[in-house]
Amino acid sequence: MYLTNEEERTLDGEFGETLRKATEILVALGDIYGADQLIPIQSAQIAGVSYKTIGDAGLEWISDLTGTVKVPAILNPAGMDLERWQDMGISETFARKQLEVIQAYKDLGVRPMCTCTPYYLEGFSVQYGHHLAWSESSAVSYANSVIGARTNREGGPSALAAALVGKTANYGYHLDENRQPTVSVSVECELSGSDYGALGYLVGKDVGNRVPLFNMNARPAPDDLKSLGAAMAASGAVALYHVEGITPEIQRMDAEQPDETIVIEKGQIDEVYTNILGEDGDAGTDIAALGCPHASATELETIADRLANRTITKQLWVCTSREVAERHPDLVRRIEESGAMVLCDTCMVVSPATEQYQSMIVNSGKAFAYLPGMCHVAAQMGDVDECIRKVCAPDED
Ligand code: F3S
Repeated sequence: MYLTNEEERTLDGEFGETLRKATEILVALGDIYGADQLIPIQSAQIAGVSYKTIGDAGLEWISDLTGTVKVPAILNPAGMDLERWQDMGISETFARKQLEVIQAYKDLGVRPMCTCTPYYLEGFSVQYGHHLAWSESSAVSYANSVIGARTNREGGPSALAAALVGKTANYGYHLDENRQPTVSVSVECELSGSDYGALGYLVGKDVGNRVPLFNMNARPAPDDLKSLGAAMAASGAVALYHVEGITPEIQRMDAEQPDETIVIEKGQIDEVYTNILGEDGDAGTDIAALGCPHASATELETIADRLANRTITKQLWVCTSREVAERHPDLVRRIEESGAMVLCDTCMVVSPATEQYQSMIVNSGKAFAYLPGMCHVAAQMGDVDECIRKVCAPDED
């Protein structure tokens, strides 16, 4: 792998131990995956934030670093709402550790915005063709597929290393040849709302880490594409997909037609809603969670409308980024009038608070795929209305 004179000197430790370590990570990855060089990035989104997943070893590793990131960098969701963690039932011990993790990142110049939807943030603009170092799988999928930017699915340490150096190794989805579709998916039914998450859940299991090219009559909105990509990245390992006539890159590339076509019919989508993952039979839902990936303003508005004149008697979490919530206080107020909680900085999958429940209903194919294994909670999928119905007063069913 070609290194500039400055990169060689960084690797020799001339600019300090942190930059030496960070460059070493990038070069090691580049060597493994056959990169020809390091390339500049526009931004980084760093996983490895929830104290639940990184523990003391991760906290120590981040705390030992010094210096400042060279590009705008933000964080993945943390294990709790950084302000109202007590409302989630988070212990003081966990909260203290979680806040230490955030502080360690802040000390490196990382913006303490914890979200899997960085593309909604002001001052974090992402454009077609930008090279990025993002970690969270749904954010990676959205950036690659819906925006047409270029990022691999970085691990926490490599995304942080890229942020500190301002570069990443040039391999994988940074290269044209890896962005061609490799399997076709023909969707032979109408879709709306959470159906896109159910579709992604099905397709991800089938295609693994290939690059699907969808043909569908439906006209998915960006929020629908967000749900589709998130689910495919969870049940499979899809980091890039195309939708004929919708996503930007397929309209500009000279695409080869894949040899294999997968057909998805309505019955398969409907079946996803009848499954309960993680246990046998109906567990009797005790909590509903919306906002995976973190809700957009449009999604918050839909939820607020559906909650009008309803009373939540169990638990309803609506997860979003702090910035989106702060830009829309009226929507937050309308949602919380029902008894639901709008949670920022965190989500139902990365927070240990989920483990206090038995059975959760979600409208997200990604949360559906992850909850049983990562949080030991039974999971069911429904659309927004079904999720609300399961946790509101019976006479409002
Ligand atoms: Fe985001 Fe958590 Fe879902 S990180 S994509 S809300 S699992």
